Amino acid sequence: MRFSKTLIQWYLQNKRDLPWRNSTNPYIIWLSEIMLQQTRVAQGLPFFLRFTEAFPTVFDLANASEEQVLKLWQGLGYYSRARNLHKTAKQIAFELKGEFPKTYNDLLQLKGVGEYTAAAIASFAYNENVPVVDGNVFRVLSRYFDIETDIASAGGKKEFTQLASELLPKGKANEFNQAIMEFGALLCVPKNPDCQNCVFNDSCLALQKKKVAQLPVKSKKLKVRHRYFNYLVFSDIDNNTLIHKRTQKGIWHNLYEFPLLETEIIETEENILALIKNQNFIKNSIQNIQLFNPQTIVHKLSHQHLNIKFWKIKVNGKIENGIDWESVKKMPFPIVIFNFISNQ
Ligand code: ADE
Repeated sequence: MRFSKTLIQWYLQNKRDLPWRNSTNPYIIWLSEIMLQQTRVAQGLPFFLRFTEAFPTVFDLANASEEQVLKLWQGLGYYSRARNLHKTAKQIAFELKGEFPKTYNDLLQLKGVGEYTAAAIASFAYNENVPVVDGNVFRVLSRYFDIETDIASAGGKKEFTQLASELLPKGKANEFNQAIMEFGALLCVPKNPDCQNCVFNDSCLALQKKKVAQLPVKSKKLKVRHRYFNYLVFSDIDNNTLIHKRTQKGIWHNLYEFPLLETEIIETEENILALIKNQNFIKNSIQNIQLFNPQTIVHKLSHQHLNIKFWKIKVNGKIENGIDWESVKKMPFPIVIFNFISNQ
């Protein structure tokens, strides 16, 4: 098929030299793929390098503490990836004696490994003939073949997977899958792709029909939830503060944070102070309260916008279970909180 041949040729001439591409080690490939989910290469690369240095094998990762893993993940976001990665590393190291499953179907059984990641590992590590279908692949195929099927629908996923499977030259799964993702990442980009200099500018249907900007079709996302977080940064006579681990399910599970007062709207200082007193966050009496960031920080997650304020609250006496700032800095926090801590 001409499409696949041209694509692979383009890839061999234009590919970036990325560390996981020089490896067929399933551990390295698995790590890189989990890290690169929802993450651009430029952002994920330094994390990948630090992670593989700290944990060169699946046994090193399995033997690490969850806090060590979360600390190295700090700033990369979507922390359930890190927790699942750690759990799965233990499963591979201790139950499977360090041996990764060898096929797409068996890889799918691992926690945190979905169709995309299983296909990536199976094709990059073992050259198994399975197509990867990620956002890049949807974009490239929907444009080249002018496909208007909604990529967010179950039927859409099936249709594009079937097409990619037919296009994949048997025995070249590794190259083809890397190539189509790289082409989507570098050339057939979401906004203003350089179609004039594209190797497919004589055959891309979307270009011929002037539909490049309209493809792929994706139905609207869920509504964004707005939340209002007031972090209470207590400080006692020894300059100790109070933190806790977020144990509830949902965002930032098992990361640390300051005591949190969540409100329905942005509240005044007076109301915040009343709420703190009402809710018995702390036994100590309060000397004063000061808003650290008059400009609310808006931290955007995929389905939530967190409006965050840090309140610095000086209290009398010693805080029970207080902790010093040097120790605080060593714990894993959501990056938005860690940035605040770094400014103290
Ligand atoms: N994004 C996700 N997986 C990737 C890979 N293997 N190479 C480059 N970018 C990627």
